[in-house]
Amino acid sequence: MQDGVYISTYGCQMNVNDTDRMYAILEMDNYVPVDKPEDASVIIINSCSVREKPVHKVHSEIGTYRKLKEQNPKLKLGVGGCVGQQEKGKLLKDLPLLDFVFGPDNIDALPQMIRDLRNQDSLRQSFARFEHSQPYDVETLVRNPGVSTFVNITKGCDNFCTFCVVPFTRGRLRSRPMKDVLQDIRALTKRGVREITLLGQNVNSYDSECGADFAGLLEAVATETDIWRIRFTTSHPKDFNRPLVETMQKHRNKICDYIHLPVQSGNSEILHRMNRGYTREEYIEKVAMIKEVMPGVALSTDIIVGFPGETEQQYQDTVSLVKQIGYDSIFAFAYSPRPFTKAAKYDDQVDPEVSQRRLQDLLQKHREWSMADCHRWVGDECEVLVEKPDQRDPQLLMGRSTQSRIVHFKKPTPSEANSSGSESQFDLIGKLVRARIVSAMPHNLRGEFTGLVNNAANH
Ligand code: SAH
Ligand code: SF4
Ligand code: F3S
Repeated sequence: MQDGVYISTYGCQMNVNDTDRMYAILEMDNYVPVDKPEDASVIIINSCSVREKPVHKVHSEIGTYRKLKEQNPKLKLGVGGCVGQQEKGKLLKDLPLLDFVFGPDNIDALPQMIRDLRNQDSLRQSFARFEHSQPYDVETLVRNPGVSTFVNITKGCDNFCTFCVVPFTRGRLRSRPMKDVLQDIRALTKRGVREITLLGQNVNSYDSECGADFAGLLEAVATETDIWRIRFTTSHPKDFNRPLVETMQKHRNKICDYIHLPVQSGNSEILHRMNRGYTREEYIEKVAMIKEVMPGVALSTDIIVGFPGETEQQYQDTVSLVKQIGYDSIFAFAYSPRPFTKAAKYDDQVDPEVSQRRLQDLLQKHREWSMADCHRWVGDECEVLVEKPDQRDPQLLMGRSTQSRIVHFKKPTPSEANSSGSESQFDLIGKLVRARIVSAMPHNLRGEFTGLVNNAANH
């Protein structure tokens, strides 16, 4: 019988992608992914340390496995991801139940690590070392790619924003050679993937020594592969330039109409103390340039409230910037001090209650503004890449518009679908269809199927 492996995942899309890589690598070593920790002989927590009590979360999840470990002493418990990298061997000291710790750069060593642990009952190991080789070359490993999947293009970050732990948990910036990225995308396309998201903590700093700068990489993906849709995340405002926006506009049929452009704060003094490398005015100018070159583009952002020293007036600058830009969605967080970072040592930390109040206030205001705004999409026809049936109502299909808005629409009957050129209703998954929007909520549109997009590959 094969051994089961269970992984619980926290954090960003890079961690989601890393979990898939762990499953794929362990599958090659004869493990099978299982849905419940009770069925596993290896349990891994793929942790994140970007915000709020991450070490505490790891401690409490490990505690929930105590019974399983007592029933089965051969069960191996591991912690990977950014908390693993940050805490290393200290976790083994603090958590007697834990067998191994590893960092995001050590995933390929997992099978050997687990084999060693199984061969020597009392062995406990920490392996959290950065792989410094330049360039970064790990092939994309995805077990069951759906319609849409991720492809890493960079790892690490050199920006050292003063609030952020990522440069310490993911190491220095490294880029993958462009030819490897293109090869992976071609292989994924052959497996039925229709949309890829190029991933990195700051994709705009993709290293031109690897074949092209980021705009050049986008151009190559758009022209030298058969992928239908290209997304990317995350972009840093200081590096988002006109040639990049012009490349997006030129290939707008493939590169999605959506940019996640984290602003963090609407006040220049706070931005300076965050070491973001732009002012409020420069950010606003950049957005104006983007809207001029790509009218109708959807924007989203990340925001931190309650950064050390943030006054009420400085917080209000963030509120006014959010209103002025008109983001489709915002991801807002209350500042939390992170180990190793500069801002954690600032002596003017904001009372957590004040940060929480600002956070709720900002989210509430943005909800109101977007409720009022979203109705303008009603009546529009948009292209939807169909991903799957709706979980709650099997009569509905779910997909995304190019602006990344979720669209639900009723499955056409076979005759409706036939009259639009499709063979059967179920064939619509993985297809590009047109839908007319009939009602709108900020994050969820309801549409009516109006036909298949006339795309040769669609049939
Ligand atoms: N590379 C991305 C961000 C990665 S972290 C970028 O530069 O935009 C994702 C988000 O978490 C950040 O954009 C920030 O808004 C939030 N974040 C990071 N550190 C934080 C901290 N110490 N406290 C609160 N939020 C934080
Ligand atoms: Fe963190 Fe800043 Fe790097 Fe983003 S750009 S990962 S916020 S240091
Ligand atoms: Fe978290 Fe690490 Fe991603 S800290 S956000 S899992 S890079």
